[in-house]
Amino acid sequence: MDGLRGLFTGRVKTRPPVWLMRQAGRYLPEYREVRATAPDFLSFCYTPELAIEVTLQPIRRFGFDASIIFSDILVIPDALGQRVRFVEGEGPRLDAIETPEALTALAAKLDEEKLQPVYEALRGVRAALPASTSLIGFCGAPWTLATYMIAGQGTPDQAPARLFAYRHREAFAKLIDTLTESCIIHLIRQIDAGAEIVQIFDSWAGPLPLSEFDAWCVEPVARITRAVRARHPHVPVIAFPRAVAGSLRGFVDRTGVQAISLDTAARLAEVRVGLPPQIVTQGNLDPLVLIAGGDALDRAVDDILAATDGLPHIFNLGHGILPQTPIAHVERMLERIRG
Ligand code: CP3
Repeated sequence: MDGLRGLFTGRVKTRPPVWLMRQAGRYLPEYREVRATAPDFLSFCYTPELAIEVTLQPIRRFGFDASIIFSDILVIPDALGQRVRFVEGEGPRLDAIETPEALTALAAKLDEEKLQPVYEALRGVRAALPASTSLIGFCGAPWTLATYMIAGQGTPDQAPARLFAYRHREAFAKLIDTLTESCIIHLIRQIDAGAEIVQIFDSWAGPLPLSEFDAWCVEPVARITRAVRARHPHVPVIAFPRAVAGSLRGFVDRTGVQAISLDTAARLAEVRVGLPPQIVTQGNLDPLVLIAGGDALDRAVDDILAATDGLPHIFNLGHGILPQTPIAHVERMLERIRG
């Protein structure tokens, strides 16, 4: 076994490698136990011993083929000087950016010092991981980060950021530029510290009209991919442009990413046919079917295995694993994949 690496050099196995988005998380009792010892979510992310421990927990329990560093996409706004908190049971809260003037309070450059604990955690995880387990670093894509920074929280339709981008195009472009540069630095530092693959989460790319999608999602992800690959040519980049309508082929061609993570609505077989054969796909399993289990889960797993048979695919969910997921269902899914 070589984790995920073989897939990126053209070696397709009979059984796909597997990991789960948010695999270190609240569905695991051992995660909840460690989480309870940290005063708040961000200090949890910035305490290497704790981050290392919870990153390794799902590997010990399930032997996934890849480990993703325990951190959060919102460490970037935090390291740009915006106040970020996580409210129990509600989610992230930031000081909303309502006017172009408010943007001037942000730092022009990422405070790399602040993110050292993330890089230290990556070094610790790499040292502790089996050689056959790949280590994934990540960041939020500029657009998705901007939706939280402008609204100050998660929103159903990302209206605050979409309105801000229409009303204050120049100021918004500058924010996306700062975030793009920050993502480049953060990903390169993660690779320097031991990440072998990186994933860019654009969870809120879905509702944008085409020209906005091109400007705020495609272009920045293309720039990040170019810069990361210029420094680390052998490190694959996985993009997750969630809930995007239309062709993913164009997105892959224009961004130059090596892999694309598919949400639950993506028509896996159709998408696969439209992609160059060396492009790796990932994901697509509905996190809700993993909660439901039973025949529905077996069928969903089999469908994905059938649609990707002989093709480079990383088995994963179409979005993060949910806290209510029974551990027995994760085990069942793995038995079915591993045969
Ligand atoms: O995948 C992993 O296991 C690695 C760690 C990881 C976390 N967040 C830990 C986390 C990753 C890759 C993320 C990505 C992330 N964070 C995204 C993009 C992916 C997606 O799900 O769309 C986004 C949008 C965020 C922002 C964020 N962080 C939100 C909206 C929340 C609250 C929602 C929730 O589930 O509570 C978080 C908190 C968070 N990040 C938790 C975890 C395990 C749960 C908080 C806790 O344990 O108290």
